[in-house]
Amino acid sequence: MNYRVFGKTGIRVSDLILGTWYLPNSGTKVKPQVDRETSLKLIKKAYDLGINFFDTADVYRGVYDRDNMKGNFKTVGLSERILGEALKGYDRESFVISTKVMGRTGPLENDQGLNRKHVRSAITKSLERLQMDYVDFYLMHAPDGVTGKYESAKTMNMLIDEGKILHYGLSNFKSHEITEYLSLHGVERPLFIQDEFNLINREQESRNIAVAEKNGMASMIYSPLAQGVLAGRYLTKKKDKSRSVYEKNFSANKMAEQNVENLEKLRQVAKDLGATMSHVALAWLIGKGRSIFPIIGSTNLEQLEENVKASDLRLSADIMKELDSAF
Ligand SMILES: NC(=O)c1ccc[n+]([C@@H]2O[C@H](COP(=O)([O-])OP(=O)(O)OC[C@H]3O[C@@H](n4cnc5c(N)ncnc54)[C@H](OP(=O)(O)O)[C@@H]3O)[C@@H](O)[C@H]2O)c1
Repeated sequence: MNYRVFGKTGIRVSDLILGTWYLPNSGTKVKPQVDRETSLKLIKKAYDLGINFFDTADVYRGVYDRDNMKGNFKTVGLSERILGEALKGYDRESFVISTKVMGRTGPLENDQGLNRKHVRSAITKSLERLQMDYVDFYLMHAPDGVTGKYESAKTMNMLIDEGKILHYGLSNFKSHEITEYLSLHGVERPLFIQDEFNLINREQESRNIAVAEKNGMASMIYSPLAQGVLAGRYLTKKKDKSRSVYEKNFSANKMAEQNVENLEKLRQVAKDLGATMSHVALAWLIGKGRSIFPIIGSTNLEQLEENVKASDLRLSADIMKELDSAF
């Protein structure tokens, strides 16, 4: 595993971040399940393989857990809990954690949003679930449409001053909103973003990623494999044990259908390099900029072990160009 500096924070983190969106499935009927034991094994294995950066959110409780999404908040924070449990006993200074706030976590009027009342209560609960004294990187999960930018930045600054978080960032904001945060005076500004970016979805490349690059912010990249499409999944009609089996609105099958030719090119590039499609898709992102950090999602150990190898694959300028024009 290779390590790089995470933007202006100066903190050294692994090339790849482990995502915990889907961990753990909390006992719904749908199969396959990422159960508690598998979740613990995945997190510990990632640590053993050199990953020192773990991403979660207060609302994560297993992506498959649709049953519990409506009005039932018992499973809120399950991913933070499992992460805390898995990393308990490891030296706290040997890893970094990012978590997020904004989404609804309870039934009360203010159990959501970026207002100070909610954020202050949310960080306390996140720290309890994680069993940690502080979170390295705290993200506003998305704009809430109402809280002022200065007000929410100031709230983040208060948490920094209180030692509850080290730095803060923005996820799913528009590029002009990021610029507005960067123009604030009298408060520490956000130092990183978290957005979707992959070979198929390049919308943010000239927007948020460009703004981040220009301003020395680090970019945490979600869905780097387009939820498995770029690993070569969904190209056949055969149903495998994947999210697509049970996610009604899952677009992976459609995405694969629309990109058959490009994906075949990716497959060929990977074959020529003696690598897999997921290696190349992740290495392409790492090759895009020194402050770009993919967050990998893996629901079994084989996927994880395969994906971490991308850290050792550096693509030549010619291959980067070839992939750029293929998609
Ligand atoms: N800020 C936000 O709003 C936001 C939004 C989304 C995600 N995130 C973060 O980003 C993380 C990653 O997102 P993501 O899960 O969408 O990432 P992804 O890497 O695009 O998709 C992960 C899925 O791809 C499949 N896969 C991964 N490696 C594979 C391999 N080597 N071979 C075959 N299939 C493979 C698996 O699908 P199956 O499980 O079907 O096998 C896996 O669950 C999340 O855990 C979360 O931490 C943040």
